[in-house]
Amino acid sequence: MHLSETFSALLRSDALLLALAPMQDVTTLEFMRVIDRYGGPEVYWTEYFRVHGDSRPEKWILQSITENPTGKPVVAQIIGNDIPALVRTAKLLQKFPVAAIDLNLGCPAPIVYRKCAGGGLLREPKKIDAILGALRDAVTIPFTVKTRIGFESAAEFDALLPLFAKHPIDLLTVHARTVTQMYRPGVRYDLIAHAAKEMRCPVLLNGNVFSATQAKQLLTETKVRGLMIGRGAIRNPWLFEQIRAELRGEPVKSPTGREVLAYLRELWDNEITPGVKESAQVQRMKKFTNFIGEGIGAEFLHDIRRVPATADFWRVCGHFLNHDRPLSLESVEK
Ligand SMILES: Cc1cc2nc3c(=O)[nH]c(=O)nc-3n(C[C@H](O)[C@H](O)[C@H](O)COP(=O)(O)O)c2cc1C
Repeated sequence: MHLSETFSALLRSDALLLALAPMQDVTTLEFMRVIDRYGGPEVYWTEYFRVHGDSRPEKWILQSITENPTGKPVVAQIIGNDIPALVRTAKLLQKFPVAAIDLNLGCPAPIVYRKCAGGGLLREPKKIDAILGALRDAVTIPFTVKTRIGFESAAEFDALLPLFAKHPIDLLTVHARTVTQMYRPGVRYDLIAHAAKEMRCPVLLNGNVFSATQAKQLLTETKVRGLMIGRGAIRNPWLFEQIRAELRGEPVKSPTGREVLAYLRELWDNEITPGVKESAQVQRMKKFTNFIGEGIGAEFLHDIRRVPATADFWRVCGHFLNHDRPLSLESVEK
């Protein structure tokens, strides 16, 4: 079965849908491979393909589609505001084994939103309307949207939601923060519950999901079809399986320090490119430990951010993780 058909069947079913959130420079082919070894989600997303007048899909992102190591659906995300270019790119991408085409309406990076792409488009509902119409006409496989709840104010969601409902999109993912809020506290799960009620298509909840008990509570409260998880999955690749266990009413097993250490080794082996300078390799790993460290503690974060070389990296990891005590890896942020 083509992966877009697998994904369509998933969308039509009532089954829980867990997704790994798109994350630039993180959700690569290598990372998907590691996450999938821990059970993984039902569906993966690529980081966004940047679309403009003369863009071509970035080769390294395409690789996670053409060499998808998980056997599960991978959704190709695009970002941009040039309608002919978006249509051209969507048509090109759907020739590859992608599960769906997803439009990014949430990126909060000023360099992106100042050009009125990603989250910046949320200030221009008319433009969104035109883009959704054009892409819906062009895309013959599932077409999905990932959005924030507004640019500056959550009140904007009232005007955005009817737009998403007007175009027959196949899935809406809502990161329940505004663009200017970036990653600050105050995630509006109540607005996601509202979206789940109003939309005919399935809705995924996104934002700050870090534990199985919290996931179960959010699913019950908001009645969404599923969860998209980003930073929580980097920190805790067991999270998808933990959520499934929690929903089956089974005990949720926390990894031990040594199991987290083994996860770091797996990341290292997967991410490290032979011939690359040692300092660059350690830097690359810090991208992950910055997120994983949030679940280990402030002292680990302090020390790991300062290591210059491979030996120091593993010394610090060993010091904090070479033990058999369970780690919840839950959020230290509120
Ligand atoms: C490092 C990083 C890169 C991201 N890149 C993308 C991206 O390419 N496309 C996108 O839609 N969202 C991107 N996001 C946002 C996430 O997909 C997600 O919406 C956000 O992190 C909130 O979910 P979380 O709390 O589960 O991490 C990125 C987030 C992070 C942390």
